[in-house]
Amino acid sequence: MSDIQEATNQLLDVNLHENWSSIQVTESGPRSESEHLQVTIGATVPTGFEQTAADEVREKLGSSCKISKDRGKIYFDISVESLAQVHCLRSVDNLFVVVKEFKDYQFKETKEEVLKDFEELAGKLPWSDPLKVWKINTNFKKKKTKRKKINQNTDSHILDYYENPAIKEEISTLVGDDLASYKDEKDESSKEETHPKMLKFRVTCNRAGEKHCFSSNEAARDFGGAVQDYFKWKADMTNFDVEVLLNIHDSEIVVGIALTEESLHRRNITHFGPTTLRSTLAYGMLRLCAPQPTDIIVDPMCGTGAIPIEGATEWSNCYHIAGDNNPLAVDRAANNISSLLTKSQIKEGEVSWGLPIDAVQWDICNLPLRTGTVDIIVTDMPFGKRMGSKKRNWNLYPACLREMSRVCRPGTGRAALLTQDKKCFTKALSGMGHVWRKVHTVWVNIGGLHAAVYLLKRTPQAFVHPSEQDGERTPW
Ligand SMILES: C[S@@+](CC[C@H](N)C(=O)[O-])C[C@H]1O[C@@H](n2cnc3c(N)ncnc32)[C@H](O)[C@@H]1O
Repeated sequence: MSDIQEATNQLLDVNLHENWSSIQVTESGPRSESEHLQVTIGATVPTGFEQTAADEVREKLGSSCKISKDRGKIYFDISVESLAQVHCLRSVDNLFVVVKEFKDYQFKETKEEVLKDFEELAGKLPWSDPLKVWKINTNFKKKKTKRKKINQNTDSHILDYYENPAIKEEISTLVGDDLASYKDEKDESSKEETHPKMLKFRVTCNRAGEKHCFSSNEAARDFGGAVQDYFKWKADMTNFDVEVLLNIHDSEIVVGIALTEESLHRRNITHFGPTTLRSTLAYGMLRLCAPQPTDIIVDPMCGTGAIPIEGATEWSNCYHIAGDNNPLAVDRAANNISSLLTKSQIKEGEVSWGLPIDAVQWDICNLPLRTGTVDIIVTDMPFGKRMGSKKRNWNLYPACLREMSRVCRPGTGRAALLTQDKKCFTKALSGMGHVWRKVHTVWVNIGGLHAAVYLLKRTPQAFVHPSEQDGERTPW
């Protein structure tokens, strides 16, 4: 049997579990071949948080992870039974199943030769297991989407400017038949109801590295053409079933099949603001602080509440406080909390006891919190670009750090603070060595901006307010 026949037959043979849960339920019953599948999963994660994501994978799936040279990616092996758990990871943005990895791909000299090799590659790849996993994943997603449509009538209009990253690498997609009109598509979908479906696909090429003699567009076009010939699939850029990924980073090539259509970071938030933080980054920042049961965790500049909301869903044995001085931001955070509560009530089908979170309007420079009562502060400070101004940061940052040191528990308190205004932050921190110790810096890329997350530990030194020394102020 030829490779192609085998791949196609195996794809058709896949046990199309009507119900995803049956995959887990069959533990004691007879198992289909597909349930023993071992595959490598690739995940894109916020750059800088690769190690955090690898730790999460190890903790939740028991798999060890490989961190790619290509920043922002990790790889780990799973058996297909764990696929549902993979979708529950909090630190990953997008998931794909690896078809083949070439650690040191030897590119030929000329563009023509390289592109010819890409064409030949399509027919030589071990597609069958990754396609089985894709199929199982698709059925799982269909069920989820169906549930989501029933449960959600929220408008998730996205204003997230982090969604528009000025990434250096090129991203190109093989464009399907431009002539296919909307009418054709409608006819097609009604035809699909009566005839077996021909799969539609696209190839997306992500290329990073200086030394390539071809563009990502050319690679996607030629590799995509060969995939089309090999499988007899139909190319369609927008309405595709299968997205084949061709990730090229210097001499490393990974061919994969996407398992997520949109990034998994779009969870929890329904009311977006101008600087909404990715939930995956929020998770990474919280995780850096290692929350413990009963910890009080505060985001004093919460905006839409992405950080405390992620905290309340993942660390529900802690108490989370979200505050901001802008009433619009507090409203958005409150609306996000309320949407999440409604969603969880519908899901559980019963009255929920709520989430361990409150939203308050306050000024970070004068928090209505007792001295030394907060265990963890996690916040995303105004960069001085979209939010505030660099000039204002020179007053705001030292005042923030001082007030945070007052409310944070001496000796055990910790903080993860994100900013792009590193110069101002470093200067402000340099005058606070007696209350804050810098433990670690994670360099992150936020929508093309080079930013940093500073992990700080509160020193054991008690906070003394300057005016207290003159007996002018009574501590809370
Ligand atoms: C970068 S945004 C935070 C975005 C947030 N992480 C989110 O996901 O939407 C910074 C926030 O700091 C708030 N802020 C600025 N100055 C403040 C102050 N003095 N007190 C409290 N919040 C302040 C702004 O209103 C803004 O919402």
